[in-house]
Amino acid sequence: MLDNFGREIDYLRISVTDRCNLRCIYCMPKDGVEWIPHENVLTFEEILRICRVFASLGIRKIKLTGGEPLVRHGIAGLIRDIKAIPGIKQITLTTNGVLFAPMAEELVAAGLDAVTFSIDSLKRDRYADITRFDHIDETEAAIRKAMELGLPVKLNCVPLRGVNEDELPDLAALARDHDLQVRMIELMPIGCGKQFSGIPFSEILTSLEERFGPSIPCSEALGNGPASYVSFEGFKGHIGFITALTHPFCASCNRVRLTSSGFLKLCLNHPDGVELLPLLRGGADDEELKKVLSDAILRKPLRHHFEDRGVGDPDKMNSIGG
Ligand code: 5AD
Ligand code: SF4
Repeated sequence: MLDNFGREIDYLRISVTDRCNLRCIYCMPKDGVEWIPHENVLTFEEILRICRVFASLGIRKIKLTGGEPLVRHGIAGLIRDIKAIPGIKQITLTTNGVLFAPMAEELVAAGLDAVTFSIDSLKRDRYADITRFDHIDETEAAIRKAMELGLPVKLNCVPLRGVNEDELPDLAALARDHDLQVRMIELMPIGCGKQFSGIPFSEILTSLEERFGPSIPCSEALGNGPASYVSFEGFKGHIGFITALTHPFCASCNRVRLTSSGFLKLCLNHPDGVELLPLLRGGADDEELKKVLSDAILRKPLRHHFEDRGVGDPDKMNSIGG
């Protein structure tokens, strides 16, 4: 459906859990955060019901995120059930990959259409410094496995000043050697992210051009999102830049987000949204739910408020899911 600003909203991102098996330094403190109590987390039945009503309103694509979505038991079943909803055309997953490889066949059989892996370093020690776990082998095995199975693959990398900036061309080289998208995600000043500095898009592009030659802008849309893509001579894949802060793409935003506790977030960094749990558990019927969801989409904010300090600020990335 169209929102008040004429944007077609057809994409729903669902954080299925705030829990994670890694503790990336820009996302979570070392000792973790206080998890949302299980009873306040949407059940699969509740998620499916929201998906059905959203599908009747024009949502066509669904992304499962976390935390880490694969730590929640039964995700393949959820994927299968969401995929079976009339109107849903695509279901994808964003994961750190640690648990992916052994589950990959099951996920594909359930209908998974594409996968995005988060990987910020290809060096064992540094991967462990960033994620606080020595799981690089698992993440690399996941990427290989997804490619073997023919799944479209994207890699998300968050460039951090003084942490992985020297490695960005090496990460980008994965798109030279393989048909996949490597996306440089601008650090967002959310939660632990505030303690780090990102790297300007122009600086990253320059360092890639020094290594790979002039960039070739890519006009075709790749995926559902806000990334702008470039390629380089001899590349099989592409490099994407997601610059929510410095080059906001709010005008073409196509998405809303659902947190694991049932908060429908209308914009990544704006406080407006709706608590769905009281409705779901308070006996609202599908018509009421549909009215609430469509009213919410209609008032989706025009733009995010990263620059107005304090607005929508206290959020934790692990409960929004990127
Ligand atoms: N800024 C930008 N990206 C972030 N992610 C987690 N926290 C932040 C942040 N503060 C990324 C993860 C993952 C995606 C879902 O969001 O690395 O790739
Ligand atoms: Fe987990 Fe993703 Fe946060 Fe890393 S960024 S701790 S993988 S939720």
